[in-house]
Amino acid sequence: MPFLCLDDFEPAARRFLPQPMYSYIAGAAETGHSARANRTAFDRYAFVPRVLVDVSHRSSETTLLGRRYAAPFGIAPMGLAALAAYRGDILLARAAAAENIPMVMSGSSLIPLEDVVRLNPDAWFQAYLPGDQRDIDALLGRVQAAGYRTLVVTLDTPVAANRENDVRAGFSIPARPNLRLAWQGIRHPRWLFGTFLRTLVKHGMPHLENAYAKRGIPILSPHVERDLSGRSHLNWRHLDSIRRRWPGHLVVKGVLDARDGQRAAALGVDGVIVSNHGGRQLDGAAAPMHVLPQVVEACRDIPVMLDSGVRRGSDVLKALCLGARFVFVGRPFSFAAAAAGESGVLKASSLLKAEVLRNMGLLGVNAIGELEAGHLIDNHLINPTQRARP
Ligand code: GLV
Repeated sequence: MPFLCLDDFEPAARRFLPQPMYSYIAGAAETGHSARANRTAFDRYAFVPRVLVDVSHRSSETTLLGRRYAAPFGIAPMGLAALAAYRGDILLARAAAAENIPMVMSGSSLIPLEDVVRLNPDAWFQAYLPGDQRDIDALLGRVQAAGYRTLVVTLDTPVAANRENDVRAGFSIPARPNLRLAWQGIRHPRWLFGTFLRTLVKHGMPHLENAYAKRGIPILSPHVERDLSGRSHLNWRHLDSIRRRWPGHLVVKGVLDARDGQRAAALGVDGVIVSNHGGRQLDGAAAPMHVLPQVVEACRDIPVMLDSGVRRGSDVLKALCLGARFVFVGRPFSFAAAAAGESGVLKASSLLKAEVLRNMGLLGVNAIGELEAGHLIDNHLINPTQRARP
């Protein structure tokens, strides 16, 4: 079956991956309400195209944080990418460089952050903050020394989420070796040999490499406990001290309330990602598309980006019409990496870019900067006077 759109990668990845791993990537918190809302939020808006516009010179190029990218989307940070695909973070980073789109390296990853930025000097790094200021400083020092210029701090995880689907699927980090996992490996030999054993043989047991300045725990161990020791006390003072310390671009991710966006902007952050973490943290949290216009309004001087639920070029364009400067896409790139490696990621990116460009043509738009609220109507308030008029 050819891959025709981002959703086509998921069934192929599901066949390839052991069920606990598939479940970790695909899953969401508790009932999955927010994960579903992320998709349906796009249905609320409908396009109102303009006709007889010469659209023969369309370009999806977009400037973000001083850099020109080929498209207004990038690869969101995804934990444990190197278990979804062999050297997953590296192939995501290489594909992003080839496509000239940003890639955000997850702090919950199994390949040292230094190895990724060496291959893609434009990669961004996403941190989950350690609970202790000294550990935060040490991590930032390491990220800076490695050469990262853009730091993303994820703010929607003050406490661990309730991922019942992970428990049911037998997924945990560290995983305890047991018969169920062994059976999953046997039933997925391409993953077992091509991803897991290949990693073990060539690079040793994967560890959480980038949560702290120092290497963390191994992913497979009968007795080690994961250190989830508190970050629930983290607050705006910590963000302030990060802003003072981090010389590069600082982006905060996981903002849903416009007041938080405004406060982050006032602290001097360079960008905000409106996100509910793909529905993986607070189940019932608002879909980013529903709060995006207010956050954009509150953060006029810095780019507002969005992730969670973007699967189509039309989703990208709707978010941009509502004021997002850029979007990030997560799970589909992980599935593409699992299903078809680096060429899968390249294919996913080019499919999404082709959808963006085609739909720009159908919408009567040549440049990303021309997208505006007037290209949409809100199905909840069908009232043409709501539309911006030239
Ligand atoms: C990691 O960031 C996750 O959401 O699992």
